[in-house]
Amino acid sequence: MKTIITNDPEEAGRCLKNNGIVVFPTETVYGIGVSARNFHGCNKIYEIKGRPKDNPFIVHVGELSMVDEIGYVIPNLWKVIKRFSPGPITYILPKKDQTVFSSGLSTIGIRIPNLGITNTMLKIADVPVAAPSANISGKPSITRVQDAIEVFEGLVNVILNGGNCEVGLESTVVDVSQNPPVYLRPGSISFEELKEFLPLLERTSQNDVEKNPLSPGLKYKHYAPDCEVVLVKDMMEVETKNTGQIGFHLKKATDFDIMIQNNQEYMRMLYSFFIDCDKKNLKRAFCEYPLNDSKRDALLNRILKASTKN
Ligand code: TXA
Ligand code: MG
Repeated sequence: MKTIITNDPEEAGRCLKNNGIVVFPTETVYGIGVSARNFHGCNKIYEIKGRPKDNPFIVHVGELSMVDEIGYVIPNLWKVIKRFSPGPITYILPKKDQTVFSSGLSTIGIRIPNLGITNTMLKIADVPVAAPSANISGKPSITRVQDAIEVFEGLVNVILNGGNCEVGLESTVVDVSQNPPVYLRPGSISFEELKEFLPLLERTSQNDVEKNPLSPGLKYKHYAPDCEVVLVKDMMEVETKNTGQIGFHLKKATDFDIMIQNNQEYMRMLYSFFIDCDKKNLKRAFCEYPLNDSKRDALLNRILKASTKN
């Protein structure tokens, strides 16, 4: 397949409108999307990614008014949606629009990305866009256009170039289809920030999820490069032969060092660090324990998942 690589969101939007498959940037990570009404296209994305069929996609829309065309929004949820969207958050809602693909579930994840060209693309597409993260299933998500091109050129119709992603980790997922609401996937919007607006919000621990997989995606190994990921509290523990490291206090030189100043930068750099460790054929990727702030949960979640062997 010939893949068009473009900076023009209108071209990407027209492709989606015509049922094509588009890799596009968001403020979190790149997505691989298709019209959510094109079930054949949705199945094709499962094939391209090698994704387990029970792991549902997020539906992306360009504006607030489209959220309750697709899902049921109870009135007091609007204040939450208006506070955090457009932004790095996905709401799981009871599904209203039955023409939209949801992997057979009665709920649907909806997100309004916060990136100008993506919103333009979605407006031109004029359809809800079903899109998982643009990566081969189990591999780290992609935050740079070059990595998207390396993986998806020849497999999709269009790749929309949006440079590097600002946030770097996938959106926070919150299940508001049930009461009390559940914080399913930590992201840049923290549990505490959301709880201010959703006082009954509950956490889900990794173990609860294994027993009761509310979010099917959480039970699979994720985000892992080929090299071994090692979380360390003291960077003196870092080995120096055939390794890479990312952290705040680099104490030794390795083959590939990334120094960061804060957790936000850590989030932005983590996946490209993993991908570069693999490109350099390194054996281990050392990650310093994140700082203690609102971004720590999300960082720890991704690093621990990447370091789990299963
Ligand atoms: O930042 C993001 O969310 C990126 C960009 C592209 O928007 N997308 C993304 O999609 O990370 P994906 O497919 O990699 O992760 C979606 C997560 C999965 O854990 C999935 O199980 C969960 O959302 N999810 C989607 N629909 C759901 C539903 N109806 N019920 C429970 N969990 C759902
Ligand atoms: Mg993903």
